[in-house]
This record gives sequence, structure tokens and C-alpha cells, in this order.
Amino acid sequence: MAQYTINVNGKPHQVEASPETPLLWVIRDSLGYVGTKYGCGIGQCGACTVHIEGVAMRSCQMTVEGLGEKPVTTIEGLSANGDHPVQLAWLEHDVPQCGYCQAGQIMSAASLLSQIPNPTDEDINAGMAGNICRCGTYLRIHAAVKSAAT
Ligand code: FES
Repeated sequence: MAQYTINVNGKPHQVEASPETPLLWVIRDSLGYVGTKYGCGIGQCGACTVHIEGVAMRSCQMTVEGLGEKPVTTIEGLSANGDHPVQLAWLEHDVPQCGYCQAGQIMSAASLLSQIPNPTDEDINAGMAGNICRCGTYLRIHAAVKSAAT
């Protein structure tokens, strides 16, 4: 075990963890930001997506040691009142079904739009391809990303 100071949602947090502990477990179990979900643990589903230095990353694939001092944003820190344009578009299009993957979907969409403010259909398909939704809400996700971009 080692002590780490990690920057999550704009605040420094002291955590004790083994160096190889995935960031996902630190943010969920040590810090209680449980909006970030565990889906596969092997970088395949996108449920654990957070922003690291503003870019969508899979928190199951980043160790606490590897994170260093890079700032992390989880779904809880994306906006002050759930009013990020992507979150509002998700509500407008009634995107979630079971909801499990949706925090990861929203974090990927927000990262995509910060890099490509007016994405084409192909940009959206490519940018969201790494996030799997077992309920098949892909058409609503696509529409919500488009609407958040306008
Ligand atoms: Fe990290 Fe599936 S839990 S990609």
C-alpha cells in the first residue's frame, strides 16, 4: 500500500492503495464517486469512462500509480447541477433505458464535443464506438450528441 494524492472533480483526495489498483476502484470505493460504473474491467465496454486531463479514458485501465497528478473528472464533476449540454440533451432525448452505461456514454460524448464541436455522423459513430449499451439506445445517443452540438 502507498499514499497518493489524486485530483478528482477539482479537489485533492488522499487515498491509500496498492500502486496497481485501477483508478476505477479508487474513485468508486475510496472516494465514493459511484456514478462511474464497472462493466468489463478489461477496457472493452466504456462503462468506466472518466475524463483524465479533459479527455475520455477508461478508468479500469489506468492505475492509481500511473495517474500521477493528472486531474480526473467523473460524471459527478461534469457540471455543477447536471446541466452540462450533453446531460441536458440526454434528458431531452430520454436516452437511458436501464441507465447502467450512461455515465460512461455521457463522459465520452462530452469529450468528443470538446474536441469536435460540430461532429459529423461519422465523427459521432467513431467517437462513441467504444461505449457499449446493452439496451441498444444507440439511436437516441446519436441524436442527443447531435443536439448537444447545436
Ligand atoms: Fe472499463 Fe469496461 S469497465 S472498459
